[in-house]
Formats: sequence, C-alpha cells, structure tokens
Amino acid sequence: MTLKAVIRGCGAFLPQKVLTNEDLASMVDTSDEWIRERTGIRERHIAGEDEKTSDLAAAAARAALDAAGMAPNEIDLIVVATTTPDLTFPSTAAIVQAKLGIESGAAFDIQAVCTGFIYALSTAEKFLTTGQHKRALVIGAETFSRILDWDDRATCVLFGDGAGAFVLEAQEEAEAGSRGVMNSYLRCDGRMVDLLYVDGGVSSTQSVGHVRMQGNRVFREAVNRISEAMQRVIADAGVAVADVDWFVPHQANERIILGVAKKLDLRKEQVISTISGQGNTSAASIPLAYCAGVDDGRIKQGDLVLIEGMGGGLTWGAALLRA
Ligand code: UT7
Repeated sequence: MTLKAVIRGCGAFLPQKVLTNEDLASMVDTSDEWIRERTGIRERHIAGEDEKTSDLAAAAARAALDAAGMAPNEIDLIVVATTTPDLTFPSTAAIVQAKLGIESGAAFDIQAVCTGFIYALSTAEKFLTTGQHKRALVIGAETFSRILDWDDRATCVLFGDGAGAFVLEAQEEAEAGSRGVMNSYLRCDGRMVDLLYVDGGVSSTQSVGHVRMQGNRVFREAVNRISEAMQRVIADAGVAVADVDWFVPHQANERIILGVAKKLDLRKEQVISTISGQGNTSAASIPLAYCAGVDDGRIKQGDLVLIEGMGGGLTWGAALLRA
C-alpha cells in the first residue's frame, strides 16, 4: 500500500496592526523608496502586545481546518515551524494543540528559521506516508517583530508577523491520484551561522537576543543555493520546469524571488508574491503565499507547485507539490 500526503486545506492569519515604510522612516534612517527598491516591501503586519505566536498559529490552523472541512479532533499530528516560540518550552505546537482543543496525537516544533516550513512539511509527509499518523497540521508561525533590533535599519525594515497552515492527510494512491507532496530537498551548512543569527539564547546569554544579518552576503548565497535546490527537487521528481504551474517562494526579497525565477526560466506570472504587503514572515511566508494563491483562485486542484526557502543556519530547501 502506497500512501501520499495530500493537502486538504490551507489557512492564513495576519495580525491587524500594519507598519508601513513611512512609519519606519520616522523610526530609523530609511525611506519608503529604499525599502521598496531593494526589497519590494511596502508594509508588514505586527502582532499586538497580547498576541503570541501560538495565537497566530491557532488562527491559521482553524482557517485551514475550515478549508479542509475537518474538525480539530481529526488531527493526530501538529508540526509548528517557528523561530519565535511562545516559551523556551513546551513547544508552541503543544500550546496550539491545547488552543484547538485537541487531546490526542503528537505535537512538536521544528527550527530551521526561514526554511522551517519546508523542513516541517517534509517531516510531516514522512510521518503520514509511513502510516504512523493520519492527518497533520503543518504550521509556519512567527512573531519576528519580537526579535528585531528596532534601531538597526538593515534588519528591522525586512520582517513581519503572521502564520499559515496546511492540513495534510494520508491517502492511498488510488484515492490521492497525482495529488500530494511529491518530493522535497533539505540542506544546511552550519559553517555560515555568522551570516544570519540571533545574538542571544538560552544556553549562551540567557536572553532572547536580536536578529543580526550580513544582508548582501546572504543575498548572494540565497540566489545560488535556492536555484540549486529547485533544480534538484524538480529533477528528482522526474518532471520538467515547464510542467510547474506555480512558484511559491519564501518571501525574503523580491529581487531574490525574481532572480531565481529567471534562472529557472519560470515566468513572472507564475510567481506568487505577498512580499509587498507582508514583508519576510520567516517560516510563515510560504504557507501565507500559498493560501493567497488558493484564495484568489490561481492555485487549483491538480496544479504543480514549487516551493523554496532559505534562512539562518544557513538552511535551504525546496519541495514540489501537486495541489
Ligand atoms: O529570510 C532569510 C534570508 N534573508 C535574506 O535572504 C535577505 C537577503 N539580503 C537582502 O535581501 C538584501 O541584502 C538587503 C535588502 C538586506 C539589503 O540590500 P542590499 O542591496 O544588499 O544593500 P546592502 O546591505 O549592500 O547596503 C547598501 C547600502 C548601505 O549603505 P552604504 O554602505 O552603501 O553607504 C547600507 O548601510 O544601504 C544601506 N542600508 C539602508 N539604507 C536605507 C541598509 N539598510 C538600509 C535601510 N534604509 N533600511
């Protein structure tokens, strides 16, 4: 019996508060023009003081369950990709489980920063296709605003808060047809920790710390590594770039997104971009963009979707899905 992990629904949640480029220009030495030209970002959402990562995650999960027509208690696995957990422990996934009123199954977090959703999806797919679990919530959720240095213009203009979720279900091949997660490719090179990291943590400083990034060096690494991951995941799945319907990238920088699309001969019209209104929401950006594509009718059942991400670690990866 061959099992596949089929996407039954997706959901998104963005906090109400919006921070525009103009707002930022009154806080640090920057301008709307610089931010738009260098990144493509116009505004981003920021979590309220009482809004935690688990609140954003639970709201996105509820929306995904609604889209799937499923009740919370049908879920037996929750994987949350986050760099900004509510607490050092327990996992944000455990807190989300309780918020959804789910009393059984497994729940854990995955930490691969902006590549987190690809790592989480790939992990959940393995749990489902081995038959160990039946239905999973895979969530990318971040309150990245909490780890920003609001005096550092090189980083504070880039990020935003939000959450996106997939409901995945294990289905036998006869039922799934061609649908499901087809392939994924995950990589890490820990020698490049210094390019993108947070200068604090439990066992080093006993504090949370702030994001530090050598942006232009990360930019150069991103274009090469993401393209390589995309080419590998396509080749390993036995399909061609021409078969891909939609490209749903991690939303770090519009120039990176369009650069890798061009390298692979993907058309601009195939790119689903949410960066202008959301900024970089780290692990949440891929499911948020995917949901935008589903909600506005671009991504339809049966479409071939290519996703990719890159972040601290450095980590990077890509996956190919049949919607
Ligand atoms: O999601 C995780 C992965 N992250 C990424 O993939 C991010 C990758 N990096 C990037 O997206 C880009 O490198 C940035 C958007 C972060 C920066 O763009 P850049 O074109 O690489 O600029 P830069 O860092 O080389 O800086 C150019 C100039 C510098 O001034 P000087 O030295 O030329 O005088 C910076 O000080 O821009 C200056 N600068 C700013 N100016 C106005 C840096 N940040 C700002 C700012 N406003 N916010």
